[in-house]
Amino acid sequence: METIDRVAGMSRAAGIFRREGRTIGLVPTMGSLHAGHLELVRVARARADIVVVSVFVNPTQFAPGEDYETYPRDPERDAGLAAGAGADVFFLPSVAEMFPDGFGTWVDVDGITGVLEGKSRPGHFRGVATVVIKLFNIARPHFAVFGQKDAQQVAVIRRAAGELNTGVEIVVVPTVREPDGLALSSRNAYLDAGERRRATALRRSLDAARDLVASGERDPAKITGAMARVISGSGPAAIDYISLADPDTLEELTALRPGAVVLASLAVRIGRTRLIDNELLTVD
Ligand code: PAF
Repeated sequence: METIDRVAGMSRAAGIFRREGRTIGLVPTMGSLHAGHLELVRVARARADIVVVSVFVNPTQFAPGEDYETYPRDPERDAGLAAGAGADVFFLPSVAEMFPDGFGTWVDVDGITGVLEGKSRPGHFRGVATVVIKLFNIARPHFAVFGQKDAQQVAVIRRAAGELNTGVEIVVVPTVREPDGLALSSRNAYLDAGERRRATALRRSLDAARDLVASGERDPAKITGAMARVISGSGPAAIDYISLADPDTLEELTALRPGAVVLASLAVRIGRTRLIDNELLTVD
């Protein structure tokens, strides 16, 4: 695996891969790699000639007061894990090169960025969409791989990649979970033992939603109410949102129509840690 830490070096390598007719798969990450990221790398490995894993803790997607400074960083460990999962290129650009002083060009995706995560984290998706489109322009992938865990991020990137005619296919990989159902996240490391136990409530609330839909419940308010009861029954936790929405437009649903695919999602603060999870439910 080759490590590249300069934008020009990555662009040059991508140009050579393209001229050689090789398929490039990109896995954009913020590092602190865990089994969920490694699954993204393996999916890319199965489809691409060249797998590029980028690690960039993107300051523009953190709001003031969020954990940008303390976000876990260990590029050496990440490089070993990425190589073990089959990466060919480990791209580690600097903030100074990605967002130099005076940077002023942003990708704003209207409509779907003001709800759910976007409501609690203003500016977050502008930072995400901008850095992802920059990474597409630098690494020139044929496809890029993202986790379903960040469902709204997937919707935003799909929209931006399509509307800006990047030609990059967006590949989405199911959420990887701990044996007790907790979705893998770099932020799980912030949980103490008690919080870690309570955190399984997110998965259990999604199970409750799935069971209710399977048993014929079609009233979104009843389903989100049941999800909230699972969370509050698990101990101290602050619900940020619980939502049943259209997976593409992210509009809240007022009824569940037969055949629809519904994005059930939630964000919950347990202690100082904000956790998110989601599941796509099919209404039979
Ligand atoms: O999902 C992430 O880790 C980040 O939001 C991403 C897509 C790498 C952009 O910084």
